[in-house]
Amino acid sequence: MKYVVINGSPRKKNTWKVTKQAMKNMDGEFEEIHLLKKKIPMCNGCFKCIMEGEDKCPHFDRIDPIMEKIKKADGVIITSPVYAMNVSGLLKNFFDHTAYLYHRPEFFTKKALVIVTTAGAGQKDVAKYMDETLRHWGVNKVYKISMACGGKDYLETKDIDKTSKQFAKDVESGKLHSPKLNDLVFFNVWKAMALSKDPIEADRKYWFDTGLVKNDFAPEVKINIAKKAFSKIMFKFLKLVIK
Ligand SMILES: Cc1cc2nc3c(=O)[nH]c(=O)nc-3n(C[C@H](O)[C@H](O)[C@H](O)COP(=O)(O)O)c2cc1C
Repeated sequence: MKYVVINGSPRKKNTWKVTKQAMKNMDGEFEEIHLLKKKIPMCNGCFKCIMEGEDKCPHFDRIDPIMEKIKKADGVIITSPVYAMNVSGLLKNFFDHTAYLYHRPEFFTKKALVIVTTAGAGQKDVAKYMDETLRHWGVNKVYKISMACGGKDYLETKDIDKTSKQFAKDVESGKLHSPKLNDLVFFNVWKAMALSKDPIEADRKYWFDTGLVKNDFAPEVKINIAKKAFSKIMFKFLKLVIK
């Protein structure tokens, strides 16, 4: 198995120690990306990734190698300490550079493990935010380890081992999980936007080129009749709302 580890902590302390502990439970090759070392400039809000295509981002040369590593990985591990009740600025800046994936989700066959550490507060909300972001990328299933380290270096709890073993087993299985209703709603929001009268050109091109416009969800992911029906009704409704 191939894993890519995106470390959103500027230090190799609490978050990294938990990450190393989790990695012990996975067999495979690990590609480590320490965001601090990548020196990604701040997203300048030019909208080019969203409107014209991700390759038009002025920082494409920094972002693309990371995205290519994610594309090649079976499992994605993304980590952050809690900073001011949110992710680190390093990780947020990376996420901002991937905002186009909300419009053009692509990682439908990937599974992810989110690791968050904090002194005492915010870990659950931050892990939830990271989970939501990854699901908007299209990621099939997100596992979460969130820990309050308090005054200690870090807590080596059974949870790290339990969750990371579950994640590794799931990655190795190659089995894809049925999407949540929320995932179907967002899939159809962006599909309806791509099919609207005045679409964003990069979105329209992506949805047509990939053939996703013809589907109720990503074709690699099986959905049952009830979810298919839900997806179709949702699309019809959204087509009426999004002109
Ligand atoms: C700038 C900064 C902001 C922080 N904000 C919070 C916070 O809002 N809540 C909290 O409980 N801990 C906060 N912490 C503590 C870190 O989340 C905690 O020590 C974490 O485990 C550090 O991870 P690291 O060792 O990987 O850097 C903050 C630490 C720093 C440096």
